Amino acid sequence: MTGITKSFPGVRALAGVDLEVAPGEVHCLLGQNGAGKSTLIKVLAGAHQPDDGEITWQGHPVTLSSPSAATAKGIATIYQELDLVPHLSVAENVHLGHELATAGFIRAREAERATRSLLSRLGHPEISPRALVGELSAAGQQIVSMARALSHEVRLIVMDEPSAVLDPDEVENLFRIVAELTADGVAVIYISHRLEEIRRIGDRVTVLKDGRAVAGGLPAQSTATRDIVALMTGRDVEYSFPRRTEPLDESAEPVLRVEGLARRGEFEPVDLVVRPGEIVGLAGLVGSGRSEILETVYGARKPTAGRVVLDGKPLRTGSVVAAVKAGLGLAPEERKAQGLLMMESVTRNVTLSSLPRFSTGGWLDREGERTAARARTGELALHPNDPERAVRTFSGGNQQKAVLARWLLRGCRVLLLDEPTRGVDVGARSELYALIRQLADQGVAVLLVSSELPEVLGLADRVLVLREGRVVHTAPAEQLDESRVLDLVMEGSPEPEGRP
Ligand SMILES: Nc1ncnc2c1ncn2[C@@H]1O[C@H](COP(=O)(O)OP(=O)(O)OP(=O)(O)O)[C@@H](O)[C@H]1O
Ligand SMILES: [Mg+2]
Repeated sequence: MTGITKSFPGVRALAGVDLEVAPGEVHCLLGQNGAGKSTLIKVLAGAHQPDDGEITWQGHPVTLSSPSAATAKGIATIYQELDLVPHLSVAENVHLGHELATAGFIRAREAERATRSLLSRLGHPEISPRALVGELSAAGQQIVSMARALSHEVRLIVMDEPSAVLDPDEVENLFRIVAELTADGVAVIYISHRLEEIRRIGDRVTVLKDGRAVAGGLPAQSTATRDIVALMTGRDVEYSFPRRTEPLDESAEPVLRVEGLARRGEFEPVDLVVRPGEIVGLAGLVGSGRSEILETVYGARKPTAGRVVLDGKPLRTGSVVAAVKAGLGLAPEERKAQGLLMMESVTRNVTLSSLPRFSTGGWLDREGERTAARARTGELALHPNDPERAVRTFSGGNQQKAVLARWLLRGCRVLLLDEPTRGVDVGARSELYALIRQLADQGVAVLLVSSELPEVLGLADRVLVLREGRVVHTAPAEQLDESRVLDLVMEGSPEPEGRP
């Protein structure tokens, strides 16, 4: 790709980007939220038309006027926001747009068979080709996207933050697939905010900043982290976790008390307390019940046993309305499905749960609404800080900030955070951590779920380790380290005698 330029109304997303990818290499694309990574690969996928610039494919200039034109050339894309059809089956999604799917019963059988073999090749034979895509987990849906990509003859496969929805062992599986593809000479463009992944599988790195390539073709293994981060952010960022400023009052009455809460088939009875100002982390793999626990506390799922007590008063179970009224807030994991109105402005999304505050006598104080939203998005370094724009026009990481801004504004007693930094870049992360800590220091009780262990260990005061729906260990964060937690989530071995 040479000199690729692309503008959206009011934003220049790409300003003359060059990208060169060789057969069999893993080319990593790095850059902060909003740098233009997804836009660049959408141009390559034929989903966006560039305003200017050229694409040369296997030595020839090409015009990729539609996604099917790109697919026909052997370019497959796994998008950041997965684009599957939820009410169709796995096999139908995999063969969407193929001639295979266009005719009758026999073809359907064939499509299922082909899908089954692709899914096994991807290490997930347990996914049924007949299952509805909408019923799969985010990780499962991503495997389906991957199967769809591989159902064509592919020479280049683009993965936009694939690891954001995966567990450590699924990431390993992904890396195995990537290695197999590149061994066959397939090129991979890999986008991730996790530098350690780039080190593991990357060959070369191109760094985008504000729609420009500020470095192209750097060696992925040997370029120093500080150099990469400096290229991305234009400054040195120390990745840090804020210390608590006030000592935690261990004798304070818990704000949140979870007593014997359970959901059959999802998680066994859990007991936990969160005191004012305390951050409690839930560590465990995807599927260990972390998100389910959070959603049950929030009333979005009805427990089969146990209860949630807020400030000494039991909450009506299975009622989000009751939970929100009592002062609970949940920043959910899948922002698109559960959190955001994509067509509405960021302002409206941020103020959504606080609207009564801005209405008097049936009138909405639009100016007040805007000012309040802008203050919160400013704190979170929303980029561009123009909250009047529709959410869907923001990059993935910036959409996540909008979800958080909503709960910051609402002023909750208890904040339930599910993967708060998913897709958020290194520069903005420290700011987000500082904000979460600041909320706690103001007396908010925080219950945090994250797949990133350093995040749980760095941010939380106390950590509960979950395995297959069971709490296997509880300890102050400072008594744990990554390898110990990993042992626990993998093995779930009970604590050896005599250990603190
Ligand atoms: N459809 C659109 N309409 C208007 N602006 C858009 C649209 N798509 C992207 N943009 C803008 O283009 C810029 C680049 O966005 P892009 O999604 O490419 O960023 P990114 O590097 O993928 O970020 P992230 O790491 O958060 O995914 C951003 O300022 C974004 O707001
Ligand atoms: Mg993106």
